[in-house]
Amino acid sequence: MHIVISLTLAGLFVFLAGFNVWNMLTSRGASARSSRLWTQVHRVAGYAFIALFGILCYSMLLRVKGWSDELSPRLILHMGLALSVAPLVFVKVIVARYQKAARSLLTALGIGIFAVAFTLVALNLVVYCLRVASTEKVPSETSATFVVAVLICAAIAFFIKGKQPKPKSETEILSLNKPDGQELINRGEPLNLTLARVEPQTHDAKTLRFLLPRGQLLGARPGQFLTFEWMIGGKSVPRSYSICSSPTQGSFIEITPKRVESGYVSQFLNDGANVGLTVKARGPYGQFCFDESKHRRIVLIAGGSGITPMMAMLRYIDDLCIPVHSTLIYCARSEQDVFFKSEFVALQTRMPRFHYVPVLSQPGADWPGWKGRLRCEILELEIEKPLESTFFLCGPSAFMELGRALLKDMAVEPARILQESFGGAVAGGKHSTPSTGLLKAKFARSAVAYNISPDETLLESSERNGVLIPSGCRQGSCGTCATKLLSGNVQMEQTEALNDELRSQGYILPCVSRPLSDITLDA
Ligand SMILES: Cc1cc2nc3c(=O)[nH]c(=O)nc-3n(C[C@H](O)[C@H](O)[C@H](O)COP(=O)(O)OP(=O)(O)OC[C@H]3O[C@@H](n4cnc5c(N)ncnc54)[C@H](O)[C@@H]3O)c2cc1C
Ligand code: FES
Repeated sequence: MHIVISLTLAGLFVFLAGFNVWNMLTSRGASARSSRLWTQVHRVAGYAFIALFGILCYSMLLRVKGWSDELSPRLILHMGLALSVAPLVFVKVIVARYQKAARSLLTALGIGIFAVAFTLVALNLVVYCLRVASTEKVPSETSATFVVAVLICAAIAFFIKGKQPKPKSETEILSLNKPDGQELINRGEPLNLTLARVEPQTHDAKTLRFLLPRGQLLGARPGQFLTFEWMIGGKSVPRSYSICSSPTQGSFIEITPKRVESGYVSQFLNDGANVGLTVKARGPYGQFCFDESKHRRIVLIAGGSGITPMMAMLRYIDDLCIPVHSTLIYCARSEQDVFFKSEFVALQTRMPRFHYVPVLSQPGADWPGWKGRLRCEILELEIEKPLESTFFLCGPSAFMELGRALLKDMAVEPARILQESFGGAVAGGKHSTPSTGLLKAKFARSAVAYNISPDETLLESSERNGVLIPSGCRQGSCGTCATKLLSGNVQMEQTEALNDELRSQGYILPCVSRPLSDITLDA
């Protein structure tokens, strides 16, 4: 083969091996879309590398073909190295394609292939350069072609990498996940969902998969929830459910309602929800979200059905291979009450930074793990670097109170604890009845005004007077009803669902607010 072609192919061979290592080390975790794109680029570069490897091996065989002398040690070393590339490439392809659990090996294999490819080419190049330096001048077109080829390859790589936008926020990351031609749904817009799959989760819970209308995508963050308007017995009944599917799956959402004793909606969803059921939903809502730009180490403490938002977080972390350290402490009654059991086992094998700690209060006799209630001993032994971690707490009210008290004992800053309440009595909620007589409530957008008793919540009175304020939990924990107070004062029992930004903009939660003066609301 002509020396110029040979050098160009060899340069490209090393470049492709190096490029794929670089790609693996730098392009993970931005967004599902860019991750997919870089996987494709990686694959194409890999196949080009294999094709070049075949061409170079063939030209090497042509050179030694019919060689009657004994092969030189350098040639034997060269051939040995060349032969070692084949099994390395083979193992890498098998791991990438079929052994997802062992994909942490890919970078090491890639570096190994790059090192061997570089040595193979460098060995010949150095000898060639030394030889021509001692005997003749290197032909100018040879060195120029080689240098130009390397420069072009480097320029292409930098150009492609430079084109990749750096996501600044999670909203941006989610919009990057949006395939072309699909509309990203905004918070508050009603969604028309269709039930497409019903799967038993435990003896008292089912996972329901709802499809969004064709061409629409939900830009939820991991941990958020939707507020559904279930039509039961001809009446619309609002209830919120956390999304447990990964937000990278924008075209469907999954929820897992657990049957609550004499619960109106949860019983309907577990017994009467069939494929084809349609429902209107609003959202996504909630501040109980994992944010990879802020959270480097997270501890998820879940009680019972409180696991659902955490499942979305773990699936999201797994889908995007986000290098966050995560510990899940999951408290349930018995083995039969554990949601997503087999998935946690699979996640443990796939995610090297994930630590799963089930705690059962009434386990079977042969249960090898933690038994009893959540306690300090478990947190101290199972959580690495608690003071550097962000905690997510979700479960029954008493469980969350206990969790907060234990974390306080461990000196965890309150700002590092995020929590989501699913219902029941909310800790800390208090209502002292104001003593004034009837007050005036105005609703600016609906152009409605009426007299309101200070005993009544703004949500109750607005519903009675025909003003629509979307609602979910009706106890100040979901944020669905957040509405701007344009004038006047209210007493709010709960503020946990409002973040600082909404609070500073004057938002209140009508479901837990009672008027202290005449008021005007932006509703
Ligand atoms: C943000 C948010 C996310 C939620 N996500 C989920 C989820 O992923 N999975 C899930 O199963 N539920 C979830 N819930 C709770 C859900 O909205 C309902 O409250 C629950 O399904 C009970 O509704 P129901 O109509 O069956 O009960 P209701 O008829 O409203 O109440 C019946 C009885 O059950 C009690 N009760 C109400 N809610 C609960 C509860 N959560 N736990 C125990 N007792 C209760 C009531 O005090 C009452 O005595 C979430 C709630 C919120 C606010
Ligand atoms: S309805 Fe949930 S905060 Fe008001």
